[in-house]
Amino acid sequence: MNTLQINLPGREYKIDIGLNILDEQLLEPVLLSGTDHVVVVTNTVLQDLYPNCISKVLQESGVRVTTCVLPDGEAYKNLDTFSKIFDFLMKVSANRKTMLVAFGGGVIGDMAGFAAATFMRGIPFIQVPTTLLAHVDSSVGGKTAVNHPLGKNTIGSFKQPEYVCIELSFLKTLPFRELKAGYLELLKHGFIRDANLFEFIQGHTLKPLDFEFLEEAIFRSCAIKGRVVEQDETETGVRAILNFGHTLGHLIETHAGYGTYLHGEAVGAGMCFAAFVSWRWNELSEKDWKRICGYLRQILAPVILHSLDLELFRDLILHDKKAQKQAVNFIMLKKLGESFIQQDTSVEKLWDEFNQFTALYPEFVELR
Ligand SMILES: NC(=O)c1ccc[n+]([C@@H]2O[C@H](COP(=O)([O-])OP(=O)(O)OC[C@H]3O[C@@H](n4cnc5c(N)ncnc54)[C@H](O)[C@@H]3O)[C@@H](O)[C@H]2O)c1
Ligand SMILES: [Zn+2]
Repeated sequence: MNTLQINLPGREYKIDIGLNILDEQLLEPVLLSGTDHVVVVTNTVLQDLYPNCISKVLQESGVRVTTCVLPDGEAYKNLDTFSKIFDFLMKVSANRKTMLVAFGGGVIGDMAGFAAATFMRGIPFIQVPTTLLAHVDSSVGGKTAVNHPLGKNTIGSFKQPEYVCIELSFLKTLPFRELKAGYLELLKHGFIRDANLFEFIQGHTLKPLDFEFLEEAIFRSCAIKGRVVEQDETETGVRAILNFGHTLGHLIETHAGYGTYLHGEAVGAGMCFAAFVSWRWNELSEKDWKRICGYLRQILAPVILHSLDLELFRDLILHDKKAQKQAVNFIMLKKLGESFIQQDTSVEKLWDEFNQFTALYPEFVELR
């Protein structure tokens, strides 16, 4: 097992990462919190695969455990489903000492975290993430949210968990496509902050049950995200580098229609584009560009998009909630393992690069 400590002003918490650790590790932080009631927030898929998994771990502790089962999928990450968590909390007489446990992927983590931030002005919560994306990204850093019909993750807050338990055995049942999407966010942390992590990842073929590799890669990836969050918890500056690949990634998700491509798949193509722009604008060396492009080519399937014009490109890019005016803060690479924020990047200049990119590299993004 590997353990990481996250230190934020006035708060610190632990992230444990390992195989078959949940039974041993979950009890202590629950008991330490002094709670006598845990509400597990999960979805129908996890409840079927791992029935009452958390309550079994806590059954002899004397802590009462109740389970709120939500429907599965991003489509349900909205205010309607969110309010069902409050209905449940009221029904089971939850109070300010009740502890929430988010048991699921990023969708459950984001919703349960936001419920913990707002129920009775804030109650403690623990993350037990079950997808690779949630292991390396959504369970670390304290962002919580639900979607509004006009924008993704537009309603939310910052809420750090009391503890995060990254139990690798849950990955055994995760579909390979989901595993790969999480792998791309993991890779992102190497691109933006740690060339050695990139080399370590590159040296292994992604296989679902290679737990030794996964434990080390997840640990190193969480450490990178953790350090960035410690520097800038609420994203007033450097935390934006975590959005590397997300400008084009979000455009792909919206333009292709939500659900066509997984978030990680869209970000994968977006990272390739951001590296391409970094090379074209003389920030990234040709050697590093070729390494990044060559590796991504091996693992990404092409994203197919309906063709678009400058106006639509601009609308889609500026809908990104991180956008300001007619320009965006675009994350670029100085070299493999070092990133920076290019403030006020003109959308028109990005449009020119996008046209070059799709013409030269249809194996990443093809317009039809
Ligand atoms: N808070 C943050 O910082 C942050 C960061 C990145 C992403 N996110 C959010 O995370 C969400 C995406 O997370 P995700 O990719 O985990 O999606 P998800 O939670 O929808 O999970 C993907 C699918 O896998 C299923 N699943 C989960 N664990 C499983 C397991 N062990 N075995 C089999 N199936 C399993 C889920 O039920 C779902 O159908 C998005 O809503 C995104 O906005 C948040
Ligand atoms: Zn992402």
